Amino acid sequence: METDDEKTGQLSDNEYVSDSIHFFMSDSNQAEPDEVICDCSGTTRGKILSLVEQGIIDPDTISRKTGAISGCGSCEWDIENILDEAIAKL
Ligand code: FES
Repeated sequence: METDDEKTGQLSDNEYVSDSIHFFMSDSNQAEPDEVICDCSGTTRGKILSLVEQGIIDPDTISRKTGAISGCGSCEWDIENILDEAIAKL
């Protein structure tokens, strides 16, 4: 069943706050390496950045190695954002 927000295409309050936080965190890779990015697999920011340091920058490969993005999928955007920021610094 669709919610009113889904019918109108508007963000819920929680989605709006989450998007705002991401917008203002211009360099989120400076955050804690122990931060869990994927709740389904327990994949941390540090694990993702460690893989990037090994030259693994493909979300599919990161998914296969960590299990991230293979559950609910809600971490995909965050992981792609982390990869974009990390790759920009390579
Ligand atoms: S939070 Fe990453 S797959 Fe669910």
